[in-house]
Amino acid sequence: MNWEDLCKLIQVPTPILDLGEIHGVRVKVKRDDLTHPEISGNKWRKLKYNLKYCLENGYSGIISFGGAFSNHVYSLSSACFLLKIPLIVIIRGEEVNENNSTLKYLLNRGQTMVKVNRSSYKLKLQSDEIKAVIDQNQAFYIIPEGGTNDLALEGVKEVGDEIVSQDTKFDHLLCSLGTGGTAAGLLQSNLGNKKLVIYPALRGDWMVTEIKKLLPKYVSVDKLMIRDQYHFGGYAKGIQQLLPFIEEIKAKYQLPLDPIYTSKMWYGMLEDIKNGFYPKGSTLMFYHSGGLQGVNVNKE
Ligand SMILES: Cc1ncc(COP(=O)(O)O)c(C=O)c1O
Repeated sequence: MNWEDLCKLIQVPTPILDLGEIHGVRVKVKRDDLTHPEISGNKWRKLKYNLKYCLENGYSGIISFGGAFSNHVYSLSSACFLLKIPLIVIIRGEEVNENNSTLKYLLNRGQTMVKVNRSSYKLKLQSDEIKAVIDQNQAFYIIPEGGTNDLALEGVKEVGDEIVSQDTKFDHLLCSLGTGGTAAGLLQSNLGNKKLVIYPALRGDWMVTEIKKLLPKYVSVDKLMIRDQYHFGGYAKGIQQLLPFIEEIKAKYQLPLDPIYTSKMWYGMLEDIKNGFYPKGSTLMFYHSGGLQGVNVNKE
């Protein structure tokens, strides 16, 4: 499949649903999970210009990084398979089970997985083990963990602008955070005086510093608000508690959420509505960043 054919498969612009009021606060959802079943949400937005750049500049393949359950790895694997781009993924942890559906998916498509121990993984391009993989594949294009780089931010900025072009009637845009790339891209979009409220899926107090690092100097973080108490202990934590919550939201609103990112954000949003963080009469735009394959992975 060529680039134009892939773009035809991707359903953009994605719809915005108005779910009505919850305790006096109106909630709208940007269903970016509907871009494509496998290359969904922020993953398409982050990969779009990276894939295009790789194809246009004649690279022989792509090298990227991720954990064993990474949504980025899953979506990249799907896109590379469709575009016939050879893929090597450096996976965090030598002990990971290759039978989980993300990694099985990658191996079944003839793509390459290199498992490295956690200390090498942390060193990334400074690790001898990882350097060796890169040296052997010098004509490969490197995409960082979570797909976050300048080209990714350009694609995410587009979804922020897409939202505003569809509907300006909201006060806060809500998004989940892993590496901070999605938040940084949305901050560069045409949000005017609307606030961007971040719900991190993991612990830490590094988020604003990291987002600032990703942004050009002239972009301010003034409209950023961080709600960092709803991470449920970290990426793969709290899943048993979240799975029934996911079912409840699906039954109530026909809205599927994933167990790592968007369900924590929904949970946090509900708490923040109840505790008055969002004023009554205000309107929220919940950015559904996809990741729904994680529902099945986490039931394995
Ligand atoms: C579904 C989903 N939502 C949100 C995020 C967070 O995005 P970012 O890493 O750009 O902060 C990710 C991945 O990292 C994701 O897979």
